[in-house]
Amino acid sequence: MSLQEKDTKYIWHPFTQMKTVQQILPVVKADGIYLITEDGRKIIDGVSSWWTNLHGHSHPYLAKAVSEQFNTLEHVIFAGFTHPKAIELAERILGKLPFLNKVFFSDNGSTAVEVAIKMAFQYWYNQNQKKTKIIAFKDAYHGDTFGAMSVGGRNAFNQPFFPFLFDVEFIDVPTKGNEQRTLEQLKALVQKQDVAAFIFEPLVQGSAGMVMYSPEILEKLLLVCKENHVLTIADEVMTGFGRTGKWFATDYINTKPDLVCLSKGLTGGAMPMGLTLCSNKIYNEFLSDNHSKTFFHGHSFTGNPLACAVACASLDLMEKSETWQQIELIAKNHQVFKAKIETFSKLKEVRQTGTILALEFNTEENSSYFNNLRDKLYQFFLNKNILLRPLGNVLYILPPYCITSTELQQIYDAIEEFLINHQ
Ligand SMILES: Cc1ncc(COP(=O)(O)O)c(C=O)c1O
Repeated sequence: MSLQEKDTKYIWHPFTQMKTVQQILPVVKADGIYLITEDGRKIIDGVSSWWTNLHGHSHPYLAKAVSEQFNTLEHVIFAGFTHPKAIELAERILGKLPFLNKVFFSDNGSTAVEVAIKMAFQYWYNQNQKKTKIIAFKDAYHGDTFGAMSVGGRNAFNQPFFPFLFDVEFIDVPTKGNEQRTLEQLKALVQKQDVAAFIFEPLVQGSAGMVMYSPEILEKLLLVCKENHVLTIADEVMTGFGRTGKWFATDYINTKPDLVCLSKGLTGGAMPMGLTLCSNKIYNEFLSDNHSKTFFHGHSFTGNPLACAVACASLDLMEKSETWQQIELIAKNHQVFKAKIETFSKLKEVRQTGTILALEFNTEENSSYFNNLRDKLYQFFLNKNILLRPLGNVLYILPPYCITSTELQQIYDAIEEFLINHQ
């Protein structure tokens, strides 16, 4: 049996209708920006394998870090014990987000969000205050566990679970021209003084279709929250680690969140790990002789040393000036390409924040993940050995930082060809 046949026999893939899926490509190796398939194709990973990969695949420096850590300490229970790499990572990450004081470890973006939501609810519970409402943006995506689904947009992805999701107040995304409306919606909601927290994807709403909004309006929204004692949770799972052109999207604003969720690029995309960072204001409300105030949450692999070691190694690479030159180079190339294509009538809008470039196509259907253009775009680029995974009629590039201008140009050329000849 071929790998593909065995895969079909044994595996159920994520976000995939297994009845109609056209093909699942076996990747046997990866190197830099390239995924190498069983039949020898070299495919450009234009989406950094679900937005995780920062420095290119199979990076030797990260490989060495994991290997050395495995030979030293591969895993240890994280209750009652700790280890050097968890401490190093916590200290270094808090150094990048100095308004926060404590790090809680988990396994992925959804759990980082789940932890943040639970911390926010329990923060008020521990003070005997009845604040049980969360505010979130419409069409947000924060993950697939129940809490994360609850604070995400309600759509076909989570419809079977509607009866089990807790109530959330959704406000409009403050895209250009809609800022005032969102501000008013938030102000009205916080009046009731029953809101525990506001959760948001800062500056770029990833899964919603790389929907972007300005730091200025985010700043205003956070100020309203602060003034009304609403905790703020920045979900930087996608935007963290340079994606928006700065270390974190919240670096663009002065009013800082109480909680920050990290994952994806945290380990350079090499190992699963999530972090939830919080301020002492939150942490201190859990300190008590009363056991019921404890944060009773944890996972078997909490603080896994291999993941911590590779995250520290990824931070080493992120701290190199070459990485930031690359981030700037990608952003500049995107800007030039954006200016070149934005007048194409096939495009409704071209958006860019840092290393993320998104093209929203005009179609007769509404903009949505299930837009028919999606499969056509996906296949067109895959045939050219470029992996771009459109969000419906929104095509985006979110490359590993090691991509060269020539390789970026190869993607741009393919996009231009599509714009000129297809649809
Ligand atoms: C902003 C945001 N939050 C949370 C998640 C969930 O992360 P994970 O897929 O690691 O559970 C994602 C994943 O795409 C995300 O983009």
